[in-house]
Amino acid sequence: MKKFVINGGKKLYGEIDVGGAKNAVLPIMAASLLSSGEVILDDVPDLLDVSIMSQVVRALGGEVTRRGKSLTIQVGDFDNFEAPFDLITKMRASIVIMGPVLARKGRVRISHPGGCAIGSRPVNWHLKGLESLGAEVRIDHGYLDVSAPVLKGARIYLDFPSVGATENILMAAAAAEGVTIIENAAQEPEIVDLANFINRMGGKIRGAGTNVINIEGVKEFTGTRHVIIPDRIEAGTFILLAAACGGDVRVNNVIPTHLTPLLAKLDESGILYREEDDGIRVFGNDSFQAVDIKTQVHPGFPTDLQAPFLALLTRAKGTAIVTENIFENRFMHVDELKRMGADLKVEGRSVIIQGVPCLNPATLVATDLRAGAALILAALTAEGRSEIWEISHLDRGYENIEVKLQGIGADIVRVDE
Ligand code: UD1
Repeated sequence: MKKFVINGGKKLYGEIDVGGAKNAVLPIMAASLLSSGEVILDDVPDLLDVSIMSQVVRALGGEVTRRGKSLTIQVGDFDNFEAPFDLITKMRASIVIMGPVLARKGRVRISHPGGCAIGSRPVNWHLKGLESLGAEVRIDHGYLDVSAPVLKGARIYLDFPSVGATENILMAAAAAEGVTIIENAAQEPEIVDLANFINRMGGKIRGAGTNVINIEGVKEFTGTRHVIIPDRIEAGTFILLAAACGGDVRVNNVIPTHLTPLLAKLDESGILYREEDDGIRVFGNDSFQAVDIKTQVHPGFPTDLQAPFLALLTRAKGTAIVTENIFENRFMHVDELKRMGADLKVEGRSVIIQGVPCLNPATLVATDLRAGAALILAALTAEGRSEIWEISHLDRGYENIEVKLQGIGADIVRVDE
């Protein structure tokens, strides 16, 4: 079992680099299945989730090779349309292979990904969208079996701007006959990156980044080379860590417009930062104010930064309310933070936070990826020795986080017991 041992209470100084976005690279790897040409992706983070998606692509018949930060994917004319059960259940995000495999093979069989720690996470909107394109969906022994000899463009209104559903429909529609219009589409920067990538392969997608996406289906996709956008959630996590610990930290490789809702909340709470070329410099201090947060779809406050922001607010001046509107069970970090002396009360979908002057070190368990990030933040601010267990969750989405944090003076080590 691996754990992080953290000696908290140190200010952080220096520069820290943000890698390519996990939530962009995973669907883009899936979209590579649309083309029989060679795809090269640059700035691909070395994450557990990327390695699982690589295994999924290999299991379908593709070749995936990593050289440094680049990934080469050569799919050719693969035959398989069924993704292995163990891989799909390991990573929910692998559901995004549905659209491209269906488009290429006319059929896809994939285990129903089911729920996860943060909620039940159904895929009904993915399936409804694919059905609108002409697919037939069968549920058989816990598997989703989706077939469509021909996909036909359609007008699709999403009941909710789901990121994964938008991506699956976008990828299937990119290769469908005729025009598809997705209304109430997700507008996240990762959707824009996916659409840009598909367009580089010869796709015809307009409007990604707005809530109406227009997709003209094409028959052939070529190989291409594409640089993945920076990870706005990793960037936000580092910004919040720097704000919480105090000091002077420059977070490199940031697109500030992707972080507008976070920066607005930093302004409101009096945390000082400066936007610089390709980066954000944070000047942490101990006197930030409590602010309320409500998670929303993009461009609202991202649910993936709710946990680290909540951890920061445990030491803010005053009372804050954090409301989670996207996932029904995303407060598992709350009990862990309470064990460190945080004053938190859960009321339905909200947490009421009364700021305390300091947190106490503790032995903690990371229950999911972003909860794990919240615990690292809290442990780095608590003077003394903390341990965080179950850190495999963190390896899913943060590349060598302890090494990156050591680079700005954090006392954190990975211990294998
Ligand atoms: C993606 C991100 C995740 C982020 C989330 C919201 C990836 C790999 N993951 O997840 O980090 O937290 O967006 O920004 O990109 N829902 C349904 N039915 C569906 C689809 C979704 O009820 O068919 C619900 C979900 O249970 C959830 C909400 O809609 O409560 C949002 O989900 P969605 O936007 O689809 O998130 P993901 O794509 O799973």
